[in-house]
Amino acid sequence: MKKVQKHFKQEALDFDEIIKRSIPFYRQMLEAIIDQLIFPKNSSPEILDLGTGTGEIAKNILIRIPDANLTIVDFVPEMLQVAKNKLSSIVRRKNQVRYIEADFSKWKFDQPYDAVVANLTLHHLKTERDKKVNYQMIFKNLKSSGILCVGDIILGTDKMLTELYIEKWIKFQFANKWSKKEIAERMQRYKTEDCPASLVNHLKWLEEIGFVKVDCFWKYYNFAVWGGRKG
Ligand SMILES: C[S@@+](CC[C@H](N)C(=O)[O-])C[C@H]1O[C@@H](n2cnc3c(N)ncnc32)[C@H](O)[C@@H]1O
Repeated sequence: MKKVQKHFKQEALDFDEIIKRSIPFYRQMLEAIIDQLIFPKNSSPEILDLGTGTGEIAKNILIRIPDANLTIVDFVPEMLQVAKNKLSSIVRRKNQVRYIEADFSKWKFDQPYDAVVANLTLHHLKTERDKKVNYQMIFKNLKSSGILCVGDIILGTDKMLTELYIEKWIKFQFANKWSKKEIAERMQRYKTEDCPASLVNHLKWLEEIGFVKVDCFWKYYNFAVWGGRKG
């Protein structure tokens, strides 16, 4: 975890530029998540954003649902500070956004939520058990009919598919002007720091835990958005 924190601390100020050049259709991914957050007009749903980074999802939630109450969690204070600066001109009232500096895998949820979102962050949880425990914790703290929506990097269901996905991802990075050396470093970092799982496993775990209406909402090779509801 220390390595992951160090990297995001170093990247905090440039993250918004880096992510667009690193993740294919990053904007579409965010939109696919926000599209799942359907609430009655003028309501104030409680929404939790895990691994919020520089607050891009939070910003787009507030644009779409201006009265939402947000809790945003990240373990890198420099990322949270960028998020805070970004959101300051969008919030409608004091304390509309709670900023929590914490490791979300250890953080004790302190209220029930109408929605939990997490983009490009759950792959930092190391083991299958860590991922399932995290989903269980989310399920427990969702309100009835609340939604979980996750965007993340995934594996294929076999080696051949996974290799194809990586090939496509590397092509995207070349097209976005990363040098050969930079791509090699980034792929090495992916290999040593990231622990993605297959989409089918994620969907299976959600159903096992009790989520309903489990589905994949968007996908481009090894990037996908999925989720489910509580009851
Ligand atoms: C790739 S960024 C994604 C940021 C944001 N969700 C987005 O889509 O732009 C991953 C973020 O998750 C945070 N993160 C990773 N693991 C975490 C953990 N266990 N607890 C809290 N934050 C975590 C990192 O600090 C980083 O800001």
